[in-house]
Amino acid sequence: MREFNTSLECAAALDKQDPLAHVRERFYVKEGQIYMDGNSLGLCSKDAEEAVLRVLSDWKEYAIGVWSGAPTNYFLYQDILGAKLARLINADPEEVTVCTNTTVNIHQAIATFYNPTSKRYKILVDELNFPTDRYAVASQVRLKGYDPDEAVKVVQSRDGRIVEEDDIIAAMTDDVALVLLPGVLYRSAQLLDLARLTREAHARGMIIGFDLCHSIGAVDHDFKAIDCDFAVWCNYKYLSGGPGAIAGLYINRRHFGLIPGLAGWQGNRKETQFDMLPEFEPVYGAGAWQTGTQPLLSMAATEGALSIYDKLSMADVRAKSLKITAYLMYLIDEKLAKYGFTIGNPREDARRGGHVALEHEDAVRINEALKARGVVPDFRPPRVIRLAPVALYCSYTDVYSLVNILVDIMETKEYEKFSSKRGTVA
Ligand SMILES: Cc1ncc(COP(=O)(O)O)c(C=O)c1O
Repeated sequence: MREFNTSLECAAALDKQDPLAHVRERFYVKEGQIYMDGNSLGLCSKDAEEAVLRVLSDWKEYAIGVWSGAPTNYFLYQDILGAKLARLINADPEEVTVCTNTTVNIHQAIATFYNPTSKRYKILVDELNFPTDRYAVASQVRLKGYDPDEAVKVVQSRDGRIVEEDDIIAAMTDDVALVLLPGVLYRSAQLLDLARLTREAHARGMIIGFDLCHSIGAVDHDFKAIDCDFAVWCNYKYLSGGPGAIAGLYINRRHFGLIPGLAGWQGNRKETQFDMLPEFEPVYGAGAWQTGTQPLLSMAATEGALSIYDKLSMADVRAKSLKITAYLMYLIDEKLAKYGFTIGNPREDARRGGHVALEHEDAVRINEALKARGVVPDFRPPRVIRLAPVALYCSYTDVYSLVNILVDIMETKEYEKFSSKRGTVA
């Protein structure tokens, strides 16, 4: 029996069988809206709201005592959040911390691990990674006195969507010191084989790290098996940690004890931090890579959101994510292909993340038409509409309705009313 068909009854049956359906009620899902943009900014949850209000009330109650006298140990809040995140990627709790934003965490990791020599001085990246990763890499090689045109090696994509792992491995030449790659590509949703790439990089004596912004909270990574050197990510996408939420940083335990590239007093051993000594004594763990004082209010929303994940298994989250995106792809093939839509993400489960990259020549205008109809997607140039049916709060019926709205927009040519110039924030 085929798993899907195009009827509303099929969507309703899939929702009925969905073991994660109950999680939706923890989120503020707007009546009449179909939210497909959790890969840009996850929805606010009741748990995030409650945690923010709790921190606010603890600040009111305890003032400076908030750091050490409140029921939650906010002095070690980064460790509490780190442990929750570690569970999601099967890392040790001490290997994960939260600090700053993804971009600064990339700077931090490269400042720590990029030690160029005259023979090995290049950083390997891919053509399709998110711009901030490339900007950070270029500025780090400049800080070491190199010209990015010479010291940043860029693996090209063959088709503008996918980066072949074989091409990345072929580019791991003797002059490469460090490799920085995405876990899931932000546009095409391609999921890289992190374990294979790590094995190959390590076999050649390179440091390797990943940007997990588009996979954390959607893909069930196993960092014990991957065993890369570092990873960074934001907590505001699938994890719903709030706009500009504090970011994640993983440091493999084999690097514990190293002096961070960018050291600060919050990375000092907690026992001696308030001795105010001139010499830095790093925490034995990812906490050493902390810099300045933790933003409790921002961390609170992330804590609340992660408490939802505490009750779930990442295997279940990934299983629903794969199924609901497969359902979306099925409906696209069945109902939208005839209007010129194509699917830009890989089809195989092992090679795709949590969103579907819907491509069309008129993507900008169709994206605008969708927004006018209560759907929240996003557009990425040149022709991609990203649709992320997030496992925690999107239903199969949402996906069914979304595709019907798209059919209607194409049948009525409603999108022609919209400008093909995209807004500043796409
Ligand atoms: C892959 C990737 N890296 C980094 C970022 C952004 O980093 P930051 O948290 O520093 O704004 C994004 C944002 O969408 C992203 O998709």
